[in-house]
Amino acid sequence: MAARGRLRKVAQDVLKKISIDELTIGMYVEKVDRSWLEIPYFRKQIQSPDQIETLRKFDVQVLYIDTARGTSQDKAPDSAGPVEGSAKPVEAGTAPGEVAKPHAQESVFDAEKVQVCRAFQKQAVNCVKEAFAALASGEPPNMEEAEGVVEGLIDHMTRDTAILTTLAKLKAYDDYTFMHSVNVTIFSLIIGKALQYTRSDLTKLGIGAMFHDIGKTQIPNDILNQPRPLEPHEMVQVQKHPLHSLALLRDVTGMSVESLRVSLEHHERLSGQGYPRGLKGTNISEFGMIASIADVYDAMTTDRVYQKKAEPHAALARIYAMAKENFNVGFVERFIARLGFYPIGSVVILTSGEVGVVTATHLDHLLCPVVMVLLDRTGQQLGSPDFVDLLYDREKRRVQSVTGAAKYGLSVQDLLQIA
Ligand SMILES: [Fe+2]
Repeated sequence: MAARGRLRKVAQDVLKKISIDELTIGMYVEKVDRSWLEIPYFRKQIQSPDQIETLRKFDVQVLYIDTARGTSQDKAPDSAGPVEGSAKPVEAGTAPGEVAKPHAQESVFDAEKVQVCRAFQKQAVNCVKEAFAALASGEPPNMEEAEGVVEGLIDHMTRDTAILTTLAKLKAYDDYTFMHSVNVTIFSLIIGKALQYTRSDLTKLGIGAMFHDIGKTQIPNDILNQPRPLEPHEMVQVQKHPLHSLALLRDVTGMSVESLRVSLEHHERLSGQGYPRGLKGTNISEFGMIASIADVYDAMTTDRVYQKKAEPHAALARIYAMAKENFNVGFVERFIARLGFYPIGSVVILTSGEVGVVTATHLDHLLCPVVMVLLDRTGQQLGSPDFVDLLYDREKRRVQSVTGAAKYGLSVQDLLQIA
């Protein structure tokens, strides 16, 4: 028997087909009944009920377990605990079996870095404000300054993604449009960086994202801020804003075609159900598709007159659920992998009953953040916060659910000391 055939025979001998209901801790999952690309992260050896839950969430029904490497129904698990070294978690885009490169832990608890990012965020918002005012009055925006801001965001992104994303989601400025423009720039750059774009492409992407909604200056404010559902004729007006953006930006010296496509295509959807042109599939540029994900995420996680904001994890879950029809699934997966399943600032309830706020993430262990525990299991506030790294404490406690800060009288802004 040829070597390849022997290997296949061995594989068949140890692979056992089971249903998701039969999956238990300790089993080693070799294959599932859907593409790995549809599952944003996965650890091959099942080490916790969360992993089984994750597979259920992504609608996995049938699995093939490797009985030589993990437990099967025929033999009891040696241990329900983690089996480090035998199976490492993988990031989105990493094939099962490949070991994800270790990432440094990110934390927002570096007051100096937070201050620098805060100042930079203000500068970015002011830059957008000035550029919008210039364009609305027929003047060209200061492209040099805008490019400087985008370059600065790219630099910060390399070191301080967690800080930037946390600051982006704090209600810091009353004017939604300017803050939204900066946030969409940040989130677009996160995806662009995950796709390993060159610095030049990142700058074009960032410039496009920064000005994507400039066309809204041509829509009356009472329509934009309408709390009731829009009338059909109002909707037609709103849906023209990408065309207005293009018209305002196309003659600006230094504006690239790629940046223009961000402004024109950020409401297009894979299915062709988007606007203004109803483009389908690959007719939408990568830049436009990236900005559409960033735009929807920021819109979902922001309070507006017509909607209550969603918690980051809920918004990511909704975007993932709608990804197949609307977005590039791979881009969405990279975005989720980069932000983390429990983004910094999420208020979480642990399996122990304690309540705390996520203060840091392990980029290759998305389900195990660092949590600042504030309330004990009876709901009493602790004298001083207890920092728990769930990566090293998962035997005792894990994240059970995510909750709202207000429900517990907590202000994430105060807690993270970034007011
Ligand atoms: Fe828009």
